[in-house]
Amino acid sequence: MCGIVGILGSKPVATDLVDALRRLEYRGYDSAGVATVENGHLERRRAEGKLRNLETRLLSEPLSGHTGIGHTRWATHGRPTERNAHPHMSAKVSVVHNGIIENFRELKTELTAKGHTFETDTDTEAVVHLVTDEMERGAGPIDAVKAALGKLKGAFALGIIFAGEDDLMIAARQGSPLAIGHGSGEMYLGSDAIALAPFTDAITYLEEGDWAVMRRAGVQVFDRAGQPVTRPLIKSVASSLLVDKGNHRHFMAKEIHEQPDVISHTLSNYLDMANARVNFPDLGIDLTKISRVTISACGTAYYAGLVGKYWIERYARVPVEIDVASEMRYREAPLPADGLAVFVSQSGETADTLATLRYAKANGQRIASIVNVRTSTIARESHAVLPTLAGPEIGVASTKAFTCQLAALACLAIAIGRARGAISQELEQELVTALVEVPRLISTVLRNEEQYIELAHGLSKARDVLYLGRGSSYPLALEGALKLKEISYIHAEGYAAGELKHGPIALIDEAVPVIVVAPEDDLLEKTVSNVQEVAARGGQIILISNANPETIGCALAAHIPTPKAHPLTNPLIYAIPVQLLAYHTAVFMGTDVDQPRNLAKSVTVE
Ligand code: AGP
Repeated sequence: MCGIVGILGSKPVATDLVDALRRLEYRGYDSAGVATVENGHLERRRAEGKLRNLETRLLSEPLSGHTGIGHTRWATHGRPTERNAHPHMSAKVSVVHNGIIENFRELKTELTAKGHTFETDTDTEAVVHLVTDEMERGAGPIDAVKAALGKLKGAFALGIIFAGEDDLMIAARQGSPLAIGHGSGEMYLGSDAIALAPFTDAITYLEEGDWAVMRRAGVQVFDRAGQPVTRPLIKSVASSLLVDKGNHRHFMAKEIHEQPDVISHTLSNYLDMANARVNFPDLGIDLTKISRVTISACGTAYYAGLVGKYWIERYARVPVEIDVASEMRYREAPLPADGLAVFVSQSGETADTLATLRYAKANGQRIASIVNVRTSTIARESHAVLPTLAGPEIGVASTKAFTCQLAALACLAIAIGRARGAISQELEQELVTALVEVPRLISTVLRNEEQYIELAHGLSKARDVLYLGRGSSYPLALEGALKLKEISYIHAEGYAAGELKHGPIALIDEAVPVIVVAPEDDLLEKTVSNVQEVAARGGQIILISNANPETIGCALAAHIPTPKAHPLTNPLIYAIPVQLLAYHTAVFMGTDVDQPRNLAKSVTVE
């Protein structure tokens, strides 16, 4: 959940390092730093908080070295202070690190006993002293790093530079992504290709266990055993994806409004719109034979998977087991022979989701992943990749990726149902036609944004907010609560509407807004009963529905009208109101909408 960069440049690199770090701020932003080789010795500048604080530091204390590394941090070990900010260093070596060194305490004890002095609370510093210790015992930089890597346990991506070595950088990857960029007379290192986009689109991705010796003339890659390996040099599309906010105040606003377009792109990847048929890729498994589908993901991606469960069970008639990846990876759930396991992830780097994928793969499942980054680790370790074509999602709170995940899952459910004969050709055409209408229907919701600004004022005063939904609207209640709490910091919980009377109704009073996700479907009548239970106790009801509010039979604090849609597509459409409610509440409260506190866009640690 941190971002690392490195440049072997032909001119001073500090400014370019900071620019590259800005493209990695989505990975974490509670402190940042750079280190360079200055006339043979190592210098560094670090700052707590946002990247602009590091830039200010560099203006007053510039660096001129042509070899350097940089880091933007999401704290795992040690508070987000300058002292704990990367790069970490000794007189001989400087290191930036993404991931967790799981055995750092043993290493720290061993190295301290050897006389090394630790200045920070971080796990990364163990790497600094491990490499330094090897060099003090006579090893050169490359052998020192090779020996040190053999002693590290955990998930890490490392960038390392050395005093007296102006044309050397060593990179290592174990569990956390790392890309090497090839320039003309320059070489680059980054947590992903987007960071390197301004410098090059010629990228080599290191694989698990790889380490690399980089010089301006080129790179040598070695595998875990120290054997030279060749990794493909690919042309990254990241450079064409250079992103900015357009005319929006935040990336999140831009990404909410991009949804009609990107959902269209994603649907076009799986549908034959002209003939209202699915045009789904071969998953390499006989869909008529699978006894169960397993779905696993984290956060918003998990809620997308939960909607997928409702769709696959209802339309394809296949049982679905779903669990959050952080639980499924340790449950040792028995998995059926010849089962299909689906992993949903925007970043494609989420550690828990990746670990669960590996568990499912080791247990004979056919692995399909729905990802927004085609070159991600989860994509590379899947048998079949089902891309969401949302484009880079910069806002930490996922919006367009979520609805594109839903689009891909809906097409998957139809494809499975068709293969098994559970969906007739007529029903297929009905469902595909409904999906094709989604972008237009979402556009109508986006036109009614003023109402959310007014509602945000009221919501911002709440201490607790409840979201309710039934059926495939229940995951939308969960997602709406997550959106609100993660960007406005207001406590919010999503519940199955039918669960209210089993406890949560005790929370209801005039101070508790209750947001009800209730399309006019076969469950509306049941949900209306729950709404009346809430109203009878003074709860402030905000009803999101295409139903006529007059038919609800009780007073509403507000009604957010939505377009009538096919039951299949309601989750895609109702995602927009809950996103806009969260967004405008956060804007009204003045929180950091695109980079909320304590969060990071890609959670690559457990
Ligand atoms: C979503 O708004 C959150 N930022 C978070 O829950 C996210 O969905 C989760 O961390 C999973 O990330 P992934 O989709 O990249 O795997």
